[in-house]
Amino acid sequence: MSTSKQRPIGVFDSGVGGLTNVRALMERLPMENIIYFGDTARVPYGTKSRATIETFAMQIVDFLLENDVKALVIACNTIAAVAGQRIRQKAGNMPVLDVISAGAEAALQTTKNNRIGIIATNTTVNSNAYARAIHSKNNDTLVRTQAAPLLVPLVEEGWLDHEVTRLTVREYLKPLLADDIDTLVLGCTHFPLLKPLIGREAQNVTLVDSAITTAEATAKALAQAGLLNTENDNPDYRFYVSDIPLRFRTIGERFLGRSMEQIEMVTLG
Ligand code: DGL
Repeated sequence: MSTSKQRPIGVFDSGVGGLTNVRALMERLPMENIIYFGDTARVPYGTKSRATIETFAMQIVDFLLENDVKALVIACNTIAAVAGQRIRQKAGNMPVLDVISAGAEAALQTTKNNRIGIIATNTTVNSNAYARAIHSKNNDTLVRTQAAPLLVPLVEEGWLDHEVTRLTVREYLKPLLADDIDTLVLGCTHFPLLKPLIGREAQNVTLVDSAITTAEATAKALAQAGLLNTENDNPDYRFYVSDIPLRFRTIGERFLGRSMEQIEMVTLG
């Protein structure tokens, strides 16, 4: 029987993209055990309805709770945007961290001119979740959101420094740059992989990578709850997916920045 501190952190996403969060957590909290679930059979979520995403998200949360996690990290912006509240209700006292709260907070700390841009999936943009999170802290901030759905398949294709991706990024950023933003939130799991390219296209803008800020928020929440694992030199990482597509390992390892030992397939619902 593991103690509370030894129990794993449960991280989940619509697919493989949330591994950018796992990577940030491994770096920030190297002694924590982690269970990851990626809903690779049903990705993308970014184009689906709120009701469908909520149903899928609750199934994932049930699975992670059955695996005795001590905290939940919603790595998917789209899930956080539409199902964050329901997940928190279900989790009760357990710490629940999410990329939108952490990203909004970091953006507010970064901006100097109070003009923040957000790029995300269609569902995240339509939910208005980033603007709500930012305005709940500072109502005077200008928030400009831009759906950037084409960047998801481009990243999955590995076109991280490709001319097509560069032109797509340039097109998406045009209205945000015209609004003179000084801070841009990468509001989708896939976008941190495009940081160098986006950085070149938005030169005077500071990029907020919500994976890093979420890992920081997780460290803080675990410390506050007395749940930090400080004695574990050999952390256990388990990766569960609902389908193992042909290129899953290659793409996953690119997101994670290291090899994946155990990948297991499970069926939910
Ligand atoms: N994980 C999603 C997000 O962060 C992107 C991929 C999808 O559409 O499912 O919004």
